[in-house]
Amino acid sequence: MSDASRRGAGSVAQRTRPIAIVLVAAVAENGVIGRDNALPWRLKSDMRRFRARTWGKPVVMGRKTFQSMGKALAGRTNIVVSRDREFSAPGVVVAPDLRAALESARGDALRRGADEIVVIGGAEIYAQTLPIADRLDLTLVMVKARPQGNICFPSINAQAWRETGRSEHKAGPDDAADFAFVTYERIARAAAQT
Ligand SMILES: NC(=O)c1ccc[n+]([C@@H]2O[C@H](COP(=O)([O-])OP(=O)(O)OC[C@H]3O[C@@H](n4cnc5c(N)ncnc54)[C@H](OP(=O)(O)O)[C@@H]3O)[C@@H](O)[C@H]2O)c1
Repeated sequence: MSDASRRGAGSVAQRTRPIAIVLVAAVAENGVIGRDNALPWRLKSDMRRFRARTWGKPVVMGRKTFQSMGKALAGRTNIVVSRDREFSAPGVVVAPDLRAALESARGDALRRGADEIVVIGGAEIYAQTLPIADRLDLTLVMVKARPQGNICFPSINAQAWRETGRSEHKAGPDDAADFAFVTYERIARAAAQT
């Protein structure tokens, strides 16, 4: 965090409060998360959970994910990472690299009183933030025909992550598949980071 964002952060309690980096993703059993710059399934229940899970927090995403959504997410600070200096879009903060994105997100979380920075994809951004993430909140999508896709979540190292929560759900009327919400907490940072 920069000196500037530390100065702007408010009370000592606020400045020292830890802010977790959490990756939130919906992942098929074969690791696929996307195809042709879109989600390979429709899962309304997960969309509702995603909204609640990210509301009032800074969300960090890659430029392709932002463009696949089409517009900024309401009620959240949208931080989009792009190397394109010309890139801009209404309602988003553009960061030239991941470090700047996370710094901006941390300042925003402190201002909002949020306890998390939520990384919302896509694959490039997940791969780069997995080594520094504190928690993974995954929706495992039990798609019957395994979706073909070229975009995957990075593999999770069992030495570094422990499953701490799981709830299984049958597909609702607007869900393409059964699904499970699964939480992983980091157990080791020093060894293999991913
Ligand atoms: N299932 C899920 O939960 C989920 C969630 C999110 C996304 N998705 C899917 O994932 C796919 C998109 O993922 P993706 O991996 O192709 O793209 P992405 O990670 O969304 O975006 C990649 C772009 O981010 C920018 N970028 C990446 N690393 C950077 C860095 N270190 N510094 C500066 N800029 C950086 C670059 O933008 P520039 O080219 O502009 O420089 C790069 O082209 C879509 O299919 C989407 O639907 C799925």
